[in-house]
Amino acid sequence: MANILVTGGAGFIGSHTCLVLLSHGHNLVVIDDLSNSSSVALERVAKLAGVGFGKERLQLIRCDIRDQAKLEAVFTSKANCSSQLEAVIHFAGLKAVSESVAKPLHYWDVNVSGSTALLAAMEAHECRTIVFSSTSTVYGEPEFFPLTESTPTNPIHPYAQTKLAVEQILGSLAIAGPWRSACLRYFNPVGAHPSGSIGEDPLGVPNNLFPYITQIAAGRHEKLRVFGDDYLTDDGTGIRDYLHVMDLAEAHAAALDHMLQSRAPLNLTLNLGTGKGLSVMNVVHGFEAATGVTIPYEMVGRRAGDVPKLEACPKKAEKILGWKAKRSLADMCRDGWAWQSANPNGYRGSK
Ligand code: NAD
Ligand code: WQD
Repeated sequence: MANILVTGGAGFIGSHTCLVLLSHGHNLVVIDDLSNSSSVALERVAKLAGVGFGKERLQLIRCDIRDQAKLEAVFTSKANCSSQLEAVIHFAGLKAVSESVAKPLHYWDVNVSGSTALLAAMEAHECRTIVFSSTSTVYGEPEFFPLTESTPTNPIHPYAQTKLAVEQILGSLAIAGPWRSACLRYFNPVGAHPSGSIGEDPLGVPNNLFPYITQIAAGRHEKLRVFGDDYLTDDGTGIRDYLHVMDLAEAHAAALDHMLQSRAPLNLTLNLGTGKGLSVMNVVHGFEAATGVTIPYEMVGRRAGDVPKLEACPKKAEKILGWKAKRSLADMCRDGWAWQSANPNGYRGSK
């Protein structure tokens, strides 16, 4: 059991990770500015975990990670377990690729300056253990597979550049002092907790495939536009490594435990995926088979910036953390649909 600070913990991956961490007996302080999430997510996490929301086990403090004064208050507060924060899981940040191209300075401010403000507060309070949300898009358009952590990075948009920059900052801290850091390069997290009580709730019309499909199933859109059927893949559509968000949440708990148990400084970089890529049409047909809901679609041109294939080699995470994705595409589709069908308008539509 440890006292953990979770930044961005009200978000999609953060809320699912909080649920797993609570089940492992940890006490959590979440900081989130709720710019892309709702506190309802954490109320539901508390209920699922059987703990009081806003009490010892799970606190939410509304805070922008760039606000150094507020971060200091979080680390010194006696009102909760903050005063003995032992580690941080850092989800807070912006993640939309196209938005990062339009607003690069905003992405560098939030994702990098926000992270340095957090790291400075951690250093000042001798809290030097962090799990960081990085991304597979640091690999750009890979030429060779399998994609391992030593594959050369080639970030092709500001979002990926900001994530790689934070990885490099953590590398610098590992050289300088006794830091323990794990940079987790997520591939494509999808799905929801099987209860259907928490899930992915993107603001506005989703850019991502999976929430768009579940919203079609919920009647919010007419059909799926499949971006390109002329890629050099079996069915011509793009391939990605889709990972159940509960598998990803469990990987965070494993990475945290690994670091808390390590006496020596650490600076890990780990790919988190299934190791088995799926095409767009694999996902469409898989969703229809798992839910019985038809997904109308239309083949259209490629989307700018898309790469033909991204697929993880997760062997290093399996070896070091003893973690392996265990949930299938059917699980991702069934659980994602359980969430969307029970919450057609996400948290914002809830009472
Ligand atoms: P999300 O938007 O649901 O969660 C991010 C959370 O951070 C939200 O609750 C948001 O309100 C909060 N936030 C944003 N800016 C903040 C700020 N300045 N101060 C405090 N809180 C702030 O996104 P997610 O899908 O859960 O992703 C979590 C992390 O994982 C992000 O860093 C993202 O870049 C990374 N990631 C996501 C994916 C993916 O496909 N979802 C893939 C790879 C990496
Ligand atoms: C998946 C596949 C599309 C929508 C995104 C973020 C990236 C990372 C992971 C944060 C592609 C196709 C999609 C649609 C489609 N997140 N598609 N019609 O592009 O791999 O990466 O999530 O780190 O930053 O950009 O995911 O879900 O957008 O696309 O045909 O309406 O589905 O072309 O092949 P992507 P995605």
